[in-house]
Amino acid sequence: MEVRVQLFGFGNVGRAVARVLLEKERFFREKYGLSFRVVSVSDTSGTAWLPEGIDLKEALLVKENFGRLSAWTNDYEVYNFSPSDAVKEIESDVVIDVTNDGNAHLWHLEALKEGKAVVTSNKPPLAFHYAELMGESEKRGLPYLFEATVMAGTPIIGVLRENLLADSVERIRAVLNATTTFILTRMEQGVDFERALKQAQELGIAERDPSGDVMGIDAGYKATILHCVAFKPITFDRISVNGIVEVTVDEVKRALAKGRRIRLVATVEEGKVTVAPEEVTGPLAVSTNENVALIESDLLGGLLLKGAGAGLKETASGVVSDLVKASLRLMEG
Ligand code: HSE
Repeated sequence: MEVRVQLFGFGNVGRAVARVLLEKERFFREKYGLSFRVVSVSDTSGTAWLPEGIDLKEALLVKENFGRLSAWTNDYEVYNFSPSDAVKEIESDVVIDVTNDGNAHLWHLEALKEGKAVVTSNKPPLAFHYAELMGESEKRGLPYLFEATVMAGTPIIGVLRENLLADSVERIRAVLNATTTFILTRMEQGVDFERALKQAQELGIAERDPSGDVMGIDAGYKATILHCVAFKPITFDRISVNGIVEVTVDEVKRALAKGRRIRLVATVEEGKVTVAPEEVTGPLAVSTNENVALIESDLLGGLLLKGAGAGLKETASGVVSDLVKASLRLMEG
């Protein structure tokens, strides 16, 4: 089956998604019988649209050489659509959102109303509008998938939404932000906060505006999403968030001397979500770009999920996995 895809966001993650679609074209065809035709690609400069399918190799070249899709002149028309217009004007089966658009829930809803499945790595729509988005997706019978919003491609959302269906989750304890783990790890080695943050930015782990990482907002969005999936809908403004801004090298080293590590820990229980720096030992003491989640439930007991929580191909893993899942569901009708 051929699946028509609209890709919104052509920054680092969007380009990583495009690369996976290009490089694994044969894999998707042979393994699932799926071929993806990307009919539009949008960045903040415009939307390249070609119903016959965009040449992703060329799109990557244009973006990498000129920094914006609107620089594309030969063969391609670049339109000045708002995301809502692009969703309404362009025919497609699946909308992928890998932008940071805080108002994206509006065009996610439009997409569902237009009969399109949605795949996203964008956190605020879910952290603020989960109930509405899920309601619309259920009403329309269309997939709304968001694996890459939490722990990149490490499949915690899939485990909670599609497995563990007989279990009642009691609690999740998790380290969900790679930037803060990276910074705290560097502080253990004596590097001060500012320098460690700069290194995290250079490695592309931190968000474009890293204040959301260090203030705990990114982890808070993710913990909110976990609560929605494991228990019931809640919104980000109802949870408690403390970041790592006030953690000092001295505190980090004192913890280390006791065999402990300071990490930004999310605790998710029914009706209560907190994110705060804590001294931890054992599995929660992750390093580098790893995330970890310990899911405690009545039947299974404790389930530990640990894997990449940030990174470009690691995030593309979650996004493209959802694209395959959405396509297979559409194929089943
Ligand atoms: N800035 C995020 C992090 C990237 O550090 O975990 C993945 O959401």
